Amino acid sequence: MQSPDAVGMTHRTSPSMPVVRFREPADACKRVAAEIASLIRQRAAESRRCVLGLATGSTPIRVYRELIRMHREERLSFFNVVTFNLDEYYPIKPESAQSYHRFMSEHFFNHIDIIRSNVHLPKGTVELENVSGYCRDYEELILRSGGIDLQLLGIGRTGHVGFNEPGAKRDSRTRLVRLDTVTRNDAVKDFGDLERVPLLAITMGVETILQARRIRLLAFGEHKARIVQQAIENRISSALPATFLRGHRDVQYLVDYDAAQCLPPSFFGTPLQ
Ligand code: F6R
Repeated sequence: MQSPDAVGMTHRTSPSMPVVRFREPADACKRVAAEIASLIRQRAAESRRCVLGLATGSTPIRVYRELIRMHREERLSFFNVVTFNLDEYYPIKPESAQSYHRFMSEHFFNHIDIIRSNVHLPKGTVELENVSGYCRDYEELILRSGGIDLQLLGIGRTGHVGFNEPGAKRDSRTRLVRLDTVTRNDAVKDFGDLERVPLLAITMGVETILQARRIRLLAFGEHKARIVQQAIENRISSALPATFLRGHRDVQYLVDYDAAQCLPPSFFGTPLQ
């Protein structure tokens, strides 16, 4: 068996924000997928459901790929799994190429045995006057499902988690938000041009995310290095919403060496034995 040392995994010992560093993004994704699979199986053995909070974007794709592999090769079943996605553009049709509904179906749900009625994503088609009621219902549904067991997160270059952009309050809940210009520019690669990137989105709030029992944030690549360092070291405030994750009782950052490059070397302990 490959030892943690062999994949270059090092662990920060500070209680404020455990950061696990991996040589390759694939290793971090496998680690999170294994944790998710173990939670699903544990719950299934107890005849209980497992509630997952899911993210889109390029970062978690390999987690979904690994879970699909486990479904095909290791009989991992998603029969007892309920999912809530963090966010969706607004307005957007579910069949649109850039919608998160489509992303999740193509990258995950179409390839596993999840019960479709157990899948939840914020709808980008709700009439504007009904959005706030709709968002309250989304929160209610999470609560009625028993709350999120494990929330998967990426981080945006603005420091957003979900689409909680700078200015988002710690006690925010699912709601309609305006996307930051940096975030919209990052989305040009998907939409083709800035004019086509929606101005708005529906997102779970910071408080919604913090209520998850476990939080696992993935960040890979040099372009995430600065924001990862700020999220971990800056003062906790709305100016950088990811800072609110500090203080959660079971949160972990899983990063590759590129995303960890702005953290001081002393930050990481010796490789786990
Ligand atoms: C996506 C989401 C966003 C992304 C973040 C990073 O559902 O909520 O917060 O996680 O923008 O995106 P990538 O992974 O594409 O760098």
